[in-house]
Amino acid sequence: MEISDIKKVFFVPDHDKYTPVKDEEAEFMYNLINENKLKNTLEVGLGYGKSALYILCGALKHNKNVDYKHIVMDPFQSKYNYGAIANFKKLHVENQIEFNEEYSHFVLPKIVQSNRKFDFILIDGGHKFDDQFVDFYYADLLAEKSAFILFHDTWMRSTALLVSYIKTNRKDYKHIHVPLRNLCLFQKISTDQRDWLHFKEFYSLNSFFRYRLVKWFNGESKSVQYLLKFKDYFTRK
Ligand SMILES: C[S@@+](CC[C@H](N)C(=O)[O-])C[C@H]1O[C@@H](n2cnc3c(N)ncnc32)[C@H](O)[C@@H]1O
Repeated sequence: MEISDIKKVFFVPDHDKYTPVKDEEAEFMYNLINENKLKNTLEVGLGYGKSALYILCGALKHNKNVDYKHIVMDPFQSKYNYGAIANFKKLHVENQIEFNEEYSHFVLPKIVQSNRKFDFILIDGGHKFDDQFVDFYYADLLAEKSAFILFHDTWMRSTALLVSYIKTNRKDYKHIHVPLRNLCLFQKISTDQRDWLHFKEFYSLNSFFRYRLVKWFNGESKSVQYLLKFKDYFTRK
């Protein structure tokens, strides 16, 4: 299945047009999966199924195994009028998707218990820090050696902090540069060797400033006061 086949059928209503990943982000996933011949794929958060379609088709391009299923989960599909399922049906790939209509914190531990492993995992579900931290925690347990874990929405402070946590605390993951600002890619390169006392600070000033700017753009005037306080502090003689 080619990218042009997906583009022909994919539909998202205008009022939700910012929900899916962008074309170049989706194409990046398709190519990463196809070029690295990744076979077992999983995704948290479905929306209208755009990333799911690109991940699935990227895997199907080199993987002719009819039993292959891309695993997805989302408890809120009814809010999207099951738009993802409709998109899968339009491309006749609905039987190659394992859809779990539940929160990731219910689905992921069950998959861990089933001993399945994955070589590509996209985390794009709940975006609060704790949602994403829990998703990463389980994704790590599900990751095959050399697996890729991809985060979307790195503009958000919650995601930026999680990225910072992995970079500073998880030497078993390598950060791989991606030429797209809103994606962050890690590859598992070894096993987790931390001892029980291990902890490194991962607070990042960069994400603090970005967060305050985003809040300001979204109408929170208090953010200006925070930013000015910082300016005062750093310009004090
Ligand atoms: C930004 S959308 C994902 C978009 C998708 N990657 C795409 O390209 O179309 C986030 C999705 O995560 C789902 N979600 C929110 N909290 C979740 C959770 N705890 N577990 C699983 N999915 C969740 C939402 O219902 C929403 O569909």
